[in-house]
Amino acid sequence: MSGQARRPHGSGHLIAVANMKGGVGKTTTVVMLAEALAADGASVLVVDLDPQASVSVCLAGETLLAEMIARGRTLEAYLALKLVSREKPLLAPRIRDRVSVTTHQNEPLSVSLLPAGPYLRLVEREIIYELTERNCSMRAIEDQLRTIFQEEFVPLAARYDYILFDCAPGISPVTEVAVRGADLVIVASIADYLSTYGLDAFVQTVWGSSGRRGGQPAPLRPPHVLVTRFQQQVRQQQHTLARLQAEADADDAGFRLFATRVPQAAALAEALMPREVPPTLSGKYGPHVSSVLIPLVTEVKGVFGGS
Ligand SMILES: Nc1ncnc2c1ncn2[C@@H]1O[C@H](COP(=O)(O)OP(=O)(O)O)[C@@H](O)[C@H]1O
Ligand SMILES: [Mg+2]
Repeated sequence: MSGQARRPHGSGHLIAVANMKGGVGKTTTVVMLAEALAADGASVLVVDLDPQASVSVCLAGETLLAEMIARGRTLEAYLALKLVSREKPLLAPRIRDRVSVTTHQNEPLSVSLLPAGPYLRLVEREIIYELTERNCSMRAIEDQLRTIFQEEFVPLAARYDYILFDCAPGISPVTEVAVRGADLVIVASIADYLSTYGLDAFVQTVWGSSGRRGGQPAPLRPPHVLVTRFQQQVRQQQHTLARLQAEADADDAGFRLFATRVPQAAALAEALMPREVPPTLSGKYGPHVSSVLIPLVTEVKGVFGGS
């Protein structure tokens, strides 16, 4: 079975923001890109695949997220019912539409959320325990998760222009399926030695020949690296960026590199904190970060042939 999304022209795009490393700006990228795409007129769904629930709390705020977790309005509640209890839960009612309070041109941004909660980690483990007890192989479990991805997430592309997956670090089973099934994988990475060391391993194990062992589908496109937390004045970052650029330009390149770089900016770190007053897009990100939002949106749309 192919895990890749093949859909009629004109429907939405699934984008996984991933990296095996934590703390490299995945969640920040998802929030920023979701709001920037929405400001460009797109309807965007954010799906949280990380048990740390960072993007869920950034978008929904603590009170709403606690309520959604308590009412089972989360990805893990859905997965537990579907794969452990073998019920027939619905995914759509767990999506909270227009969750972002950020406004642009006096309109709230069209950003929706399928949240995760802290039990996602346990549920992923429970799925493996439960299904192996029922004599399912690991491959069969992965197939079940891929089927869910195909049957539940891919059709959501008819409803949203973009579906952004905030992946867990370390590649959990659910993250693995999203990375392999997405139309585009954005690898958020800091331009330093250790972050890019992990990048090679990530690209090799998912896109390289070793990643295709065991019948796992290869992702549709090569990964696109987005440099985050960029500090132009730091020599190590300049050198690492130059090396990444040379690797991306090589004939046998394993990845592409976005020309847009997300700067290290206090405004961006603060942008993810809850606000008492709903912010405007430009007020939230400040002039320094706002100046990269349009180029980033243009590049992402360009991947799919849009302008
Ligand atoms: N461009 C940036 N400028 C300043 N701080 C950033 C930037 N990107 C991320 N951060 C901060 O770095 C930390 C990790 O970012 P996060 O997006 O949560 O990474 P990940 O999702 O990869 O773990 C957070 O505290 C976040 O506020
Ligand atoms: Mg994160």
